[in-house]
Amino acid sequence: METLSAIDWERFQVLSPSEKAPYFGDGVREQHVILAQQFDRARLDALGALATRIRRVAKTHAGSDFLQQTLSHKRAMLFFTQPSTRTFLSFCAACEILGLKMGEVRNPSTSSEFKGESRDDSVRTFSSYFDLIIMRSEIGGLAERVAWLLSHSERTVPVINAGSGKDQHPTQALLDIYTLQRSFELQGGIDGKRIVFAGDLKRGRTVRSLSVLLTQYKDVEQCFVAPADLQIGEDIQAVLQERGISFSLRDDLRPELGSADAVYMTRVQDEWDASDGAASAFDPARYRIGKAELSCMKPDAAILHPLPRRDEISPEVDEDERAVYWRQMRNGMWIRAALIASLFGIEDEICGYVGA
Ligand code: CP
Repeated sequence: METLSAIDWERFQVLSPSEKAPYFGDGVREQHVILAQQFDRARLDALGALATRIRRVAKTHAGSDFLQQTLSHKRAMLFFTQPSTRTFLSFCAACEILGLKMGEVRNPSTSSEFKGESRDDSVRTFSSYFDLIIMRSEIGGLAERVAWLLSHSERTVPVINAGSGKDQHPTQALLDIYTLQRSFELQGGIDGKRIVFAGDLKRGRTVRSLSVLLTQYKDVEQCFVAPADLQIGEDIQAVLQERGISFSLRDDLRPELGSADAVYMTRVQDEWDASDGAASAFDPARYRIGKAELSCMKPDAAILHPLPRRDEISPEVDEDERAVYWRQMRNGMWIRAALIASLFGIEDEICGYVGA
């Protein structure tokens, strides 16, 4: 197959996500992590198993010391020009677990972009000093542009998309899958489950990426609950149709709760209102979980949220054993460590550690 370094930008940028996905790997593993479409079931299982392995090894002082020397010769650049708490910090923690040193740019006004340097030149500068670029941007598609650009430079380093515009957040979707894998460990896994998404599904990039990953599981039904103007994008609906996935569109959460195996809540993403004019007459009462809604849910259901939240999940729900969003957040650190380990090809070294 043609490689990313061989295709020109004009031809590449018009491809669909599914057509682009193979360009970001070498046929065996990812070289960049840009799109949810890059991951098949085997890769999701392997990454989950590696995350669990790292989690176990890290439990002891000796195991933690061992992990920290695995990538102590590598450096990661965290290029986050859009606000983030947990993605940024969990990537920092993941790098620390594996011993990578880090640099960061979070505010472009403190970099030479302020002096007129182009984004392309900035990124090539990062790749001169670092072995991995982890980036979040409000610009949809910027991460894939950076991956393409670096593959056309003399120093190609892996790029991880830590959230791009309203489009994709593949590493959040990986941690969501890992959380579902762990939540349903005693219930036959993710296959056959009914997953209900609620909130701002149009601009919630985590839902868009997770919906794509869930197509890798057998007989999973997806239900999208949102007001019409914030409903899941037609492009994602087309992917589900193409892959023969059963899905439904609804506008009231409560009637869906009783049959849900997992409920994935999201907040209104009104930070985009000024740019996309999608300010919605959102009735929060229809897209909220409190004590009353808990009583409608299955006893072994899982409640997820990518966080941050506003009032779509009442804090009193936090104490319920079905609330897994705090564990979900911590899972992000382990799956991101697994992803970085995989990008640098050190899975066997980690799995061969005999102390755990
Ligand atoms: N879930 C998530 O992306 O959170 P942050 O915006 O805090 O990184």
